[in-house]
Amino acid sequence: MEEAIRSLLQEISDFGIRSDKDLEAFRLKYTVRKGLIAALFGQLKSVAPEERPRIGQLLNTLKQSADQKVADADEALSPTSAGKAPALDLTLPGRRYFTGSEHPVQKVLGEMKQIFSAMGFSIATGPELELDRYNFDMLNFPPDHPARDMQDTFFVTRGNPSGDVLLRTHTSPVQVRVMLDNPPPIRVICPGKVYRNEAISSRSYCVFHQLEGLYIDRNVSFADLKATIYSFARQMFGKEVKLRFRPSFFPFTEPSAEVDVTCYLCGGKGCRVCKKSGWLEIMGCGMVHPNVMRNCGIDPETWSGYAFGMGVDRTVLLRYKIDDIRLLFENDLRMLRQFPA
Ligand code: PHE
Repeated sequence: MEEAIRSLLQEISDFGIRSDKDLEAFRLKYTVRKGLIAALFGQLKSVAPEERPRIGQLLNTLKQSADQKVADADEALSPTSAGKAPALDLTLPGRRYFTGSEHPVQKVLGEMKQIFSAMGFSIATGPELELDRYNFDMLNFPPDHPARDMQDTFFVTRGNPSGDVLLRTHTSPVQVRVMLDNPPPIRVICPGKVYRNEAISSRSYCVFHQLEGLYIDRNVSFADLKATIYSFARQMFGKEVKLRFRPSFFPFTEPSAEVDVTCYLCGGKGCRVCKKSGWLEIMGCGMVHPNVMRNCGIDPETWSGYAFGMGVDRTVLLRYKIDDIRLLFENDLRMLRQFPA
């Protein structure tokens, strides 16, 4: 009996199953109810009782290896396994993937960042929810200064222990944060969203983007500021562009100026966009006020610097001939899909 089991075990392991027909032959010979293995089980009663457990166990092993062989062959021959006809229906239509693309504001911001990076500016960011202190006080706005009225502010919480919280009205508080955290020399740009409580129209929105610049070192002069802005404007708006610095006022710079570029739509001749003036205002700028430096722990006797801040959105509108600023913030896919990657 033992002999018979062992030789069958060998036979089974040698049996090659390469096709469905082989598999069927194997099953018929060994594993079906009238097969050889079942027949051996039938003989178990004639084995001496003391040998039965051992022989029974051998028989079980035999049965298991035969069943396993059937299962393995079944799996290997099934149509989904490698090399066989695929179960995938290749005629089904594919799944549709939508590809995102860069928002036009990010495209223009990206260009601006690249120009300033090449001039040695690094990029700093700050929170959009800002402390009143950083947005106004540290920037030399006295509490009752009329300049605070220049910017209609969204206040978020009043009377917080650490001060009033507001949505920043400009990117200049990032200047303050950078100066507080870093000893000079400093050369950074701070791009980001700013918020003002303005009447919403096709020309102004409650959110927009600014890019601020700050340079602090020894002996920095207004001439350095002009050179930097000229270089930027030529790269951004074209070699032919002319600049005009008009005296202006900001609490955090002294002297201060606003910068106009020749309208790059009409080349300075005068058109609807520049309101026939030939000029477009692009930024405010000036030499960092000594009070601001002192507030941030920087000695204005040793260091001097300039700052500038420009609006980004207007350039986006002009560049892509978009006639309503609200389109930049509504995330309407019909609009965004017009700006593929
Ligand atoms: N923060 C000013 C504004 O929002 C712009 C500015 C920045 C002016 C830096 C001078 C220097 O209008």
